[in-house]
Amino acid sequence: MIQLYPDGLDADGPIEPDRAVAAESRPAPAGRPWVYTNMVVSADGGTTVDGVSGQLGGTADKAMFAALRAVADVILVGATTAREERYRPPRQSEERRAQRRARGQAPDPRLAVVTRSLSLDTDLPLFGDPENRPYILTARSAPADRRRALEPVAEIVEVGEDGVELAAALAVLFDHGARTALAEGGPSLNGQLIDEDLVDEWNLSLSPHLLAADSRRAAIGPLPSGPPRGMRLDRVWTDDDFLFCRWTRSRER
Ligand SMILES: NC(=O)c1ccc[n+]([C@@H]2O[C@H](COP(=O)([O-])OP(=O)(O)OC[C@H]3O[C@@H](n4cnc5c(N)ncnc54)[C@H](OP(=O)(O)O)[C@@H]3O)[C@@H](O)[C@H]2O)c1
Repeated sequence: MIQLYPDGLDADGPIEPDRAVAAESRPAPAGRPWVYTNMVVSADGGTTVDGVSGQLGGTADKAMFAALRAVADVILVGATTAREERYRPPRQSEERRAQRRARGQAPDPRLAVVTRSLSLDTDLPLFGDPENRPYILTARSAPADRRRALEPVAEIVEVGEDGVELAAALAVLFDHGARTALAEGGPSLNGQLIDEDLVDEWNLSLSPHLLAADSRRAAIGPLPSGPPRGMRLDRVWTDDDFLFCRWTRSRER
């Protein structure tokens, strides 16, 4: 057992999430970006209050959310989360943009929304920046009229016949230059990534709240074939009564 130090302090003093997260290793596997998740969950494992995650957040959690976004080439998200959480173009501060450029990244991450229905209104905030149009990852069987409606505001990528094949979609993003993909959920998208063994890093912000409500866990879906995915605990930070945990995939386990 080890002692955790409260209020953002470790043995060497305060942790600056931006700097500390940027220093972490995220090497792209062959042919696809490094996939890292981020979810906030209540201390009893719930992910939403009244259908959104906002009430689980806090100051330190927002800082971690932003620090993890700041190193992403692409932010992968399920369409329900993009709709419910009113996703916006992930524009970075000028300071973060300069840091990204210095690392060889584009100034802002790009959103990649996974959807078969293409039920996304073109006036949603996520389409608000013509300089940073989101990818829409969809299936070949998606409705053609919806596809035509979205073409002016998004870059549409078809991967899979009836649903998006996530491994193939990640390979396309890699071909477009993405080396890091931050998966922000929701639980059903996370479940598929786990099922296909595509999660390289799992970040969980454990929020100091109890919900006891009928809210989803951080990942749902059928039990993946084979043993549970083995992970290695990489770090635990605490601030503002949150725990910020990072596990990386240990494929030998
Ligand atoms: N606590 C947190 O940190 C956190 C984080 C994220 C989300 N959330 C919450 O989670 C909830 C949403 O999660 P969710 O699991 O219901 O939905 P989700 O994973 O966000 O989105 C599911 C939708 O994504 C599309 N999709 C997913 N996989 C696909 C595939 N392989 N092929 C084609 N389309 C695919 C489908 O969209 P179409 O229906 O358009 O075809 C599907 O209905 C929201 O309430 C949100 O607030 C919480």
